[in-house]
Amino acid sequence: MAENQLIWPARLHHFALTSENPGVMADWYVRAMGYEKEAHGDGWLLRGAERHLMVLPGKKSQVAFSSYALTDAAHLADVAEKIAAAGCNVETFETPLFADGAISITDHDGNVFAFGVPSQDSTGSDKLPGRLQHIVFATPQLAEQVSFFTDTIGFRKSDTVLDGDQDPTACFMRSDPEHHSLGLFRTTESRLDHFCFESTCWNDIRDWGDHFSEQRIPIVWGAGRHGAGNNLFIFVEDPDGNKVEISAEIELMTWEQAPREWPHEERTLNLWGTAWLRS
Ligand SMILES: [Fe+2]
Repeated sequence: MAENQLIWPARLHHFALTSENPGVMADWYVRAMGYEKEAHGDGWLLRGAERHLMVLPGKKSQVAFSSYALTDAAHLADVAEKIAAAGCNVETFETPLFADGAISITDHDGNVFAFGVPSQDSTGSDKLPGRLQHIVFATPQLAEQVSFFTDTIGFRKSDTVLDGDQDPTACFMRSDPEHHSLGLFRTTESRLDHFCFESTCWNDIRDWGDHFSEQRIPIVWGAGRHGAGNNLFIFVEDPDGNKVEISAEIELMTWEQAPREWPHEERTLNLWGTAWLRS
């Protein structure tokens, strides 16, 4: 293995958003995304067949943790050992959706990432398909963050966006063949950028659009097709203004495919039209 392929394959499994109004948020996600909600402490656990989310009391639009599912307990043990050997502080972690033995690490911006084995196989199907697939953060220290996630944790660079000085403005990284399960944008502050649910085809995007229309939830960006990742997309916003993406046809890449580069321009983020440029 030429490079660190440690966490491969890993998939984004669930994450925890914080909000000053977790009840309002939970009700929106039930209505907009078809979740079933159950109380979890002072917050809510939102369950779907292929998408799980927690909404906890706290500051608006913070991510308490993001968690990635590994193959099995042996994979998890290997990841824990090798990340620790690389000098990363590994802690035990508990979440109701992972079996005992989950671990967490903290990145340079203070974001917590957990790795574990789901305590239940996903069963059934969601009324509208959309597997939780990627999460994206904005960071003031893009180079350090990319180095941490690729060199230490084992993500693989898919596409890097470069400005006119050839400095990176964004990086999309994969942990299985899907083009990115984690993205980072260069900004002046550390924050959540958006998260995404991958549906199965263009007709699903149509059905999501019709569903959002029935719910009086406006699409705030799209429909479009990303350059980096080649996926079709629409975006809506939850009551806290967090950007929620529905995607389809995300590009698949082998581990061996080399990282590519894109210019910092709107077309990189939307081949079909205007884009949301973060810097
Ligand atoms: Fe996205």
